[in-house]
Amino acid sequence: MSDVEARLDELRESGLYRRMRHVSGPQGSRVVLDGRPVLLLCSNNYLGLADHPRVREAAADAAMRWGAGAGASRLVSGTMTVHRRLEEALAAFKGTESSVLFGSGYLANLGVVSALARLSAPTHPDGAVVFSDELNHASIIDGCRLARAETFVYDHCDVEHLAWGLKQHRDRPGIIVTDSVFSMDGDVAPLEAIVELARRHGARTIVDEAHGTGALGPGGRGAVAEAGLEGQVDVVVGTLGKALGAYGAFAACSASMRDYLVNTARSLIFSTAPPPPSAAGALAALEVLQEHPEMVERLRGNADAFRDELAREGFEVAGSTTQIVPLVVGDADLAMAVCERAIEAGVFAQAIRPPTVPEGTSRLRVAVMATHTREELRAAARTLGRAALQAGFRPGAGVPVAAAQPAGHPDERLPAPLRSAAA
Ligand SMILES: Cc1ncc(COP(=O)(O)O)c(C=O)c1O
Repeated sequence: MSDVEARLDELRESGLYRRMRHVSGPQGSRVVLDGRPVLLLCSNNYLGLADHPRVREAAADAAMRWGAGAGASRLVSGTMTVHRRLEEALAAFKGTESSVLFGSGYLANLGVVSALARLSAPTHPDGAVVFSDELNHASIIDGCRLARAETFVYDHCDVEHLAWGLKQHRDRPGIIVTDSVFSMDGDVAPLEAIVELARRHGARTIVDEAHGTGALGPGGRGAVAEAGLEGQVDVVVGTLGKALGAYGAFAACSASMRDYLVNTARSLIFSTAPPPPSAAGALAALEVLQEHPEMVERLRGNADAFRDELAREGFEVAGSTTQIVPLVVGDADLAMAVCERAIEAGVFAQAIRPPTVPEGTSRLRVAVMATHTREELRAAARTLGRAALQAGFRPGAGVPVAAAQPAGHPDERLPAPLRSAAA
């Protein structure tokens, strides 16, 4: 047996083997999954814009007008009219002076975090310290690794622990980085307190609005806007492949920060520019969102209603305040069993297991869309409740997320090992 096969066997035995499921037809609130029609409850296409007629048309027109690909990186010959238009529209939407596109959210975080960590490095012999929430996305963790930056991992959303870390490293340049909406838990970072701490300690801030853009804040401008912090965060990262229904990502920031990122972010410099159809699709999606802010209200209303329905089935949903609702089961095999039972009954909510989430907190990560009907959500909550019982899991008996995470007095706590969260 080869080492590859041995490792795959190991993954199977530990309940962590993954395979890709197949969706035929376009993305929507209902899809055909491996040949079976299901209600889709785990997509990041929160506003249903991926298959919106105007978004599709814009992408198709762009392909005819500008071609399928950009052909080179942004700094060679890959910057095209549609990229500049989209960057201007995104900066206006996020209330920043400027913005710059990246190939994906993963690439944006990789580039932004590493570029900022290196920026601060020469000013101190020991370099900068990146302060990172323990549940930040894998792309942020990998950005820290790319910069070879010292990373202080603070307890999830714990501003006291963060403040303690900042004090311990008060003589070093600091960068605080956090998801705004946590992708596997659906809770929101304490952004006001984080920005205030950054101000007090002279640290820079990066906020990843992958799941906040289009979902939170006035007109879907994000959690930063909701907290009244527009213009007060050094770099806001947003993705175009989630609520905006296309593909790619951006960093919204000052003009000089944009210039710095263009000159130093390796994932921008050494990667082909986003394809024109994706950029045009995102631009059309942004226009639709701005013309129809009621979509955001609908998403919020659906999320609130669905959390109520799930609570009625006995699920513990109090941690989430957004469109992402984790149904924590605990054991990886059990989470997979609940997921499979739900699919058989016509509801698809993917099971998420380590290393995407901490050991012992495997879950169904449920994501609501603005295009779900209330009746669909009511029925889905009942289906999930039944699927859980059939698989041998009693809703409400799961491991509370906080209980499974590393804890301890800050004085005793070493930075947690870098954990790899996944998309
Ligand atoms: C918080 C967060 N940041 C970044 C990303 C990466 O974005 P993309 O899928 O565009 O690479 C994800 C993807 O799931 C995410 O959840």
